[in-house]
Amino acid sequence: MKFFVDTADTAEIRELAATGLLDGVTTNPTLIHKSGRKFLEVVEEICGLVDGPVSAEVVAMDHETMMKEAEVLRKIADNVCIKVPLTIDGLKTCKALTSDGTQVNVTLCFSANQALLAAKAGATFISPFVGRHDDNGFDGLALIEDIRQIYDNYAFGTEILAASLRHPIHVLDCAKIGADVITAPPAVIKMLSKHVLTDKGLEAFEADWAKTGQTIL
Ligand code: E4P
Repeated sequence: MKFFVDTADTAEIRELAATGLLDGVTTNPTLIHKSGRKFLEVVEEICGLVDGPVSAEVVAMDHETMMKEAEVLRKIADNVCIKVPLTIDGLKTCKALTSDGTQVNVTLCFSANQALLAAKAGATFISPFVGRHDDNGFDGLALIEDIRQIYDNYAFGTEILAASLRHPIHVLDCAKIGADVITAPPAVIKMLSKHVLTDKGLEAFEADWAKTGQTIL
């Protein structure tokens, strides 16, 4: 399973990239706003920090303008992945871009039928929003299960990029279901390494080692 981080904070990306565990980055207009930085500039910096796909989202609503925006974005770096919304214009843009080899992430997916359309449009990634689905009284993980089943039924190559994950159990369940990729905020990714018994065990080892009076170096 690939791990993407969902942020436009380059300090956080740099820190996670240094672990060697990061496979890509997702951004969206809200995260760009939060960064307080210029969109094209921050995307360029992120593309230099990771080798994997960096999702940069178009903001136009119509196909023609989406194509023009995608043209600007894909020139930034080879690892830019164009993010388009799950609308008819977004799907049309996805089809056009993937046909000439550009990576496309279809975002704001909230139903399995939408995911089916994205796969037919040749999407590289489909982004079902688990947390926002849950927030609205739906079952976000059931959505991931449905998409997995449909994509397997027809051997679609589109990767399921489980998005809007809020906590480590979301990540665990996505891994059990077989999502191809997860994207989560830096804090959630860091939380995956935490366990109270790991901390407790380390404390005990540290104390007992000190009692031996030895050093390794
Ligand atoms: C995915 O690409 C989105 O940027 C993201 O996961 C949205 O998450 P949120 O619902 O926590 O804003």
